[in-house]
Formats: sequence, C-alpha cells, structure tokens
Amino acid sequence: MAIVKRTRWDSRTAFVLAAIGSAIGLGNIWRFPYICYKYGGGAFLIPYFVALLTAGIPLLILEFAIGHRMEGSAPLSFAKISKKTEWLGWFALLIGFGIVCYYAVIMAWSAKYLISSFTLAWGADTKTFFFSKVLNISGGVFEIGRPQGWIVLALFFCWICIVLATWKGIKTVGKVVYVTVTLPWVLLIIFVIRGLTLPGAIDGIRYFLTPNFKALANLEVWHAAYSQIFFTLTVGFGVMIAYASFLPRKSDIVNNALIISLSNCATSYIAGFAVFSTLGYYAHISGTTVANVMKSGPELAFVTYPTIINHLPLAPLFGVFFFLMLLTLGIDSAFSLTEAIVAGVRDKFRWSQKATNITIAGIAFVVGLIFTTRAGLYWLDIVDHFMNNFGLFIVGFLEAIFIGYIFGADKLRKYANNLSELSVGRWWDLIIRYFVPIVSLVLLIWTLKDRLLKPYGGYSRLAEFLGGWLVIIIFVIISILLSIKGKREV
Ligand code: ALA
Repeated sequence: MAIVKRTRWDSRTAFVLAAIGSAIGLGNIWRFPYICYKYGGGAFLIPYFVALLTAGIPLLILEFAIGHRMEGSAPLSFAKISKKTEWLGWFALLIGFGIVCYYAVIMAWSAKYLISSFTLAWGADTKTFFFSKVLNISGGVFEIGRPQGWIVLALFFCWICIVLATWKGIKTVGKVVYVTVTLPWVLLIIFVIRGLTLPGAIDGIRYFLTPNFKALANLEVWHAAYSQIFFTLTVGFGVMIAYASFLPRKSDIVNNALIISLSNCATSYIAGFAVFSTLGYYAHISGTTVANVMKSGPELAFVTYPTIINHLPLAPLFGVFFFLMLLTLGIDSAFSLTEAIVAGVRDKFRWSQKATNITIAGIAFVVGLIFTTRAGLYWLDIVDHFMNNFGLFIVGFLEAIFIGYIFGADKLRKYANNLSELSVGRWWDLIIRYFVPIVSLVLLIWTLKDRLLKPYGGYSRLAEFLGGWLVIIIFVIISILLSIKGKREV
C-alpha cells in the first residue's frame, strides 16, 4: 500500500541517533548496573554479550531489514508477509504501549525530582520523601486511592513533551534526537568523572566488576541477560521496524544495527561505572558495604541517589544534572515507542500525524493514571514484569518464526546484505530459524513455570492476573481485531 509517499529521515545520522536514543534509556542506567551486580558482577558480561550476539544484533538486523524491505510500521510489514501475521505487528506495538504507559510515569517522577533538586526538597530522609510524600504509597495493591495530583501534572507535562517531539513524525524526531541523545551522554560522563573521584569509588567498581563465575550455571542469569538485551535494544516493540521503514531506499542495514547495538551496550557499561562508583562513595560515608546499599530501579534513582547527592559539594547542581539525565534518557525511548504506534495506526487508518499523536498520547496518559495512584508502584512492578518477561519474548519468538519459516531468513539476509557495508553469513539464518525460537521458548516456559508455582513478587493471584495475564490476553484480542478490521491494500 505504498500509495502515500513515506516521509524519510533527513540523514543517516538522524536515523542512527534516533535508534540509539530509543535504545539508550532508563534501562541503561538503573536496570543494567543492578542486574550486572546481582547476577555475577563482571561474569554477567558473558551471558550479556552472548545474548547480544545471538539475539540482540540478529533481531535488530531482522527488524531493520523487514521495516525497510516492506516500507511499513510493524503491522503493515507483517501484513505484507501474510495477512495472518499482521496481528503480531499490533501485538508488538501494544507491548510497547503497555511499557510506555508506565515509562512516562517514571519520567514524571524524574520531572518532579528535577524541580525538587533546586532546593534539595527531599531532605535527609529520602526514603520517606519518595514513598510517603511523593508516591503516598498505600499498604497494598488493591488500596488504590486517588491519582496523586502532582504526578498527574508531571505526567501530563511529559506527554506534552512526547507529543511535541513527534509532532511532525520523524521530521521532528530527527531534530530532537540531536539534543536528547547527546545531552544525557555529556551528563553521564560528568557523573562518571565525579563518581570515580569520590572516596570509596574503587569499592563500588570492584563490586561491579568482580566476577562470580558460579552464577553462569543458573538459568535465571541467562534469562536476565536475554530480557535485558530485548529491553535495552528496544527489540520486540515494533520501534526499530517503524524507524527503518522511513529510511531512504538505498540505506545500510547491517552496519547500522552494529553501530546502534554496540553504542547502546557501551553506554550501559559506562553507566555502570557512574552508578557503582557513587554507590562505593555512599557505602564509604555510611560506614557500610556496597552490598548493603545496592538497590534496583526506582529505589536506586529516587532514594539512594538523592541521599548521595545530599553529600556532594554543589548538591543542587548535581541533583539537576542527575534528574535531567534521567528525563533526557527516557524521553527519546518514550517517543520512539509512541511514534511506532502512531506509524502503525497511520499506515492502517490513514489518520493525520497530529491527530494520531494526540489520540495515542491521550489514551496512554489516561491508562497511565493507574500508575499515579497510591498503589501505582505495585501495578507498575507487575505490568513491567509481564511486559518484559512474556510480552517481549513472545514477540521475539514469533518474529523469528514468521521470518525464518514464512518469509524466509535467507531471503531477508540477502536483501540486507545487498544494501549493507558489511554482510552477514548463513549463521544469521540459523540463529533466526533455530536459536532465537528455542531460547525464547525455553525462557518463556521457564518463567511460566515460575509463575505457576508462585505469583510474581508476592502479590496476590488476583493482582497478578489483572496486571499481568489479563493485559496480555487483552493485547492479543485487540491485535487480532485490528488485524482483521478493514481490508488492507498490501
Ligand atoms: N531501550 C529503552 C531503555 O533501555 C526502552 O530504557
């Protein structure tokens, strides 16, 4: 249906920066260092790089190649393979939608903290500030309460920024990413230098890098590595398919995929130095060990970091730098997820860019309100677990099967090689046809078994069902309905 002329990226740099911006996000700064530490320190880099080479890079090449070849968003690209596979494109976009709804809420917290940085409003008791004052967290997942006013306001602000950044689609994205990719990088470097020059930094770095090879025998470690690779490279969300669909006809695929994935993983590694050196300092001033101060996700960013910032000279400045870094890291990932959905809807329904932007952002804002309630953090935790551990693996598994067996891995590889500065060999076909499906399936079954034995995170079965299984089931139904709706001219 290439009836309407597709907008193109202004330059290769704009595309590469946009894809790097999508990949580099909150996942690099709080997810990677934490799981690296939790699953074997330096030794975790082994499964991480195995996952990068055996799933991350091959799937990124697949997504770029299919988006470029079909000149379509994820649903249109899969519809062009077969009408029966269109639903997978919608499912990928919906998983991205589920993620961006809470991702924007984390950005909203960052925006609130950015303002609080000027006066160090969190005070000495950063834990109470975050959980009681900011989140006003309730005692349980069903004590929902009302959305918290200021989080709603900050969330609204974040969605306005996302809408503006995608206002004219990739034309605006291609300009905004020059700032949203470079600024957090500059800030990250400042944090690495600041961190490494603090007393105690070396203890933190030692924790980050000391290998524990025994961890490699644990399937959980491999699961963490593959799931981190999917999340961090933004594969399985339909984003990279949409972004590649806007490339000019003669564009490199393979080399771009390598540049983007390696820059992203290098950023994670460097972020590890920033995070662990500061944690070493924190352990040093609190007279404890790094093991005792290591926290994941929200607690690391919104409790531990503000405490560390309190102790730094020029504390408000570092507070502003840190939360500005989180916001700018998050925003280009968030708008890539949104733009992928917008592209999918526009390809199918022919709505205008602006109307689609506002509609998708409006729906995501309303759905995201659940995460702004007093029980928001609990729901965020459950949805995050299911989107990452089931959603992305299901997409990765089916993408590999559909391309490997219906479209033809060799056909897509030859297409990519013809355009690219570097070529991939037949090993790529084997990875797409056998390795990715087997690994994703084993990990899916393994998590499923875990879920059947005990509900996630100690929540009730009902909460797990509502925030996890039901969301996945609804996404499958919506995907099928969208794919059978209307006759698509492919
Ligand atoms: N790839 C994005 C991140 O790491 C989603 O945050």
